[in-house]
Amino acid sequence: MLETEVIRLQAALRKKDVLLRAKEKELKSYYFAISHELKTPLAAMKGYLSLLEEFHVPQFTSEAIQYIDRLRNNVTRMQQLINDLMEFSKIELLETDCQTIPFGNILNETLLELQYSIHYNQVKIIQAPDYPAVYCHSQFLIRALINLISNAIKYSRTRTSPEVEIGYIEDELFHKFFVRDNGIGISKPEQAQLFQMFRRLKRKDGVDGTGLGLVITKRIIESHGGEIWIHSRKNHGATFFFTLPKY
Ligand SMILES: Nc1ncnc2c1ncn2[C@@H]1O[C@H](COP(=O)(O)OP(=O)(O)OP(=O)(O)O)[C@@H](O)[C@H]1O
Ligand SMILES: [Mg+2]
Repeated sequence: MLETEVIRLQAALRKKDVLLRAKEKELKSYYFAISHELKTPLAAMKGYLSLLEEFHVPQFTSEAIQYIDRLRNNVTRMQQLINDLMEFSKIELLETDCQTIPFGNILNETLLELQYSIHYNQVKIIQAPDYPAVYCHSQFLIRALINLISNAIKYSRTRTSPEVEIGYIEDELFHKFFVRDNGIGISKPEQAQLFQMFRRLKRKDGVDGTGLGLVITKRIIESHGGEIWIHSRKNHGATFFFTLPKY
């Protein structure tokens, strides 16, 4: 009796999983199609803006020139959003693309990509004495780390001694990592919105971005079978923890 019940439950779960995956696929192709369609008219808008700037500026008032400038900024922002949405829609982890690779190598590549920003903002990077090897899609994991570490830099660079630590905590079932900074931090109510699409927190600190970085990061970590969460207090830095299953 109990056994048939378990089998029935397993079958129901499998069915739900298949339906969910199909829905997710549909949604992703929808994002992709929209992003793709928006790209062409936006490029055209940018082209016309360049023509206006190049050949017609003498006829414009200084107010009109200011509007053109704002238009250009908005078009650029929209292009960033579209690129991020396209990136998001392309995240699909195939078993064949995964391999066991030392986390230290992944981190080195990430830090190399962020070299300029680290140097320019004079950020102290603290690493763990040792990292394990992880089973992952290296390019996706690098993308997730770039997002976390670039946020840590972006939101701590106004401090006198900005510091970013990439740590590792031994755990029984999971590899547990964290990215900690000593920056502006995030209040509890704001934390609830962090991983939602287009929920860029409103701040007057002039930092740019589309607000999709953490959504993409969460998607990458979860598609590896891991989890991501945050510990933070406003003005007391932020720590993003994430796990990857041990295989
Ligand atoms: N380390 C951090 N410290 C403080 N606030 C953060 C940190 N990381 C993220 N946030 C807050 O979470 C919001 C969402 O982060 P996310 O990376 O998704 O977007 P973004 O950095 O604004 O833009 P993008 O990543 O597209 O450049 C940010 O706008 C910021 O307000
Ligand atoms: Mg970001």
